[in-house]
Amino acid sequence: MTASMRARRLGERVTAPFGRRLCEVTRNLTSGGYRIFSVSDPVGPEPAAGQFYMLAADAGWGGNEGRPYLARAFSVADAESYADGVRLDFLVQAVGPGTSRLAALEAGEGLWIHGPLGRPFAPPHELVEGAAGAVLVGGGIGVAPLAIWRRQLVRAGIPARVLLGFRDRANSGGLDLFQTGSSLASPANDPRICSELRLASEDGLHPVGDHQDRRRTHRGYVTDLLGVLLEGDEASSGAVYACGPPAMLEAVRVMCADRGVACELALEAPMACGFGACFGCAIPRAGGAGYMRLCVDGPVVRGDEIETALVPGSGH
Ligand SMILES: Cc1cc2nc3c(=O)[nH]c(=O)nc-3n(C[C@H](O)[C@H](O)[C@H](O)COP(=O)(O)OP(=O)(O)OC[C@H]3O[C@@H](n4cnc5c(N)ncnc54)[C@H](O)[C@@H]3O)c2cc1C
Ligand code: FES
Repeated sequence: MTASMRARRLGERVTAPFGRRLCEVTRNLTSGGYRIFSVSDPVGPEPAAGQFYMLAADAGWGGNEGRPYLARAFSVADAESYADGVRLDFLVQAVGPGTSRLAALEAGEGLWIHGPLGRPFAPPHELVEGAAGAVLVGGGIGVAPLAIWRRQLVRAGIPARVLLGFRDRANSGGLDLFQTGSSLASPANDPRICSELRLASEDGLHPVGDHQDRRRTHRGYVTDLLGVLLEGDEASSGAVYACGPPAMLEAVRVMCADRGVACELALEAPMACGFGACFGCAIPRAGGAGYMRLCVDGPVVRGDEIETALVPGSGH
């Protein structure tokens, strides 16, 4: 039995096969202001939520064409095993040369992938004894790892409330990943899954252009919605999981610490290798206890493991 065939514990770290491998891009869809592209990974294994891959296009990457040179880190937004491999979905916002090239990938093109890498989210009962459920808090492109985490939690029968915030319509997307059990799977295999989802945007408009229902979109920050939830009596019996811009993550970390709520944060740092060799992703541990390499000791960390979520060079 291979590692990819064995039934895994929820939140178990999955080890990457050695080296990078060439996969075929199967589709690239518009999702609000972002893109969702998928690859077929014939080797697998299926990743755990919160893990990431280092990605580089086979063509138009490095060489005489200049930047981008290094592979770019990407959280897996969804994954599904099939007879001939694993479908991996990634959510991208074009902010520079690497992300622009990935956003422009077409079906049939080659993509080099290395992963899954890093430490995934841990289930609520590993963070809080007798945990009642999970609250997922996403901001901007940081909604990506929360989509696969929500699906895995709901499939495991663990209640998950989802709070997503965006700056405005141009800087929003990925909601498709939260509306069905698996964004791009066939509905017959993956029926619609209900879990509470609330939205916030700084302009108060619904992130998807067709809907202008202001009553259902909070005008302000997603942390406003979290603050209301954390006021509830049952708040400390659940675990909070967050991914988004550094300022949002720092606000979540402080709010949870103040209220005694367990939280995990999916952080970003500039990553050159993705597997612990270059030390480019080192951040300080809490209490002056040295440093951690975010690519192997993270990217998911507990709120009490770090001094701050304001990581230099991260976030866009
Ligand atoms: C674990 C992890 C998971 C990620 N998941 C996603 C994802 O799912 N979708 C997505 O679109 N992006 C994701 N990113 C961010 C992405 O890897 C970077 O934005 C990427 O390096 C940008 O490459 P570029 O060539 O387009 O832009 P660059 O020229 O490298 O930078 C463009 C802008 O992004 C900022 N930036 C540079 N490097 C990083 C970095 N490592 N992290 C954050 N900001 C950076 C710069 O300050 C600049 O403002 C992730 C990063 C990490 C570390
Ligand atoms: S990215 Fe190289 S050590 Fe983390």
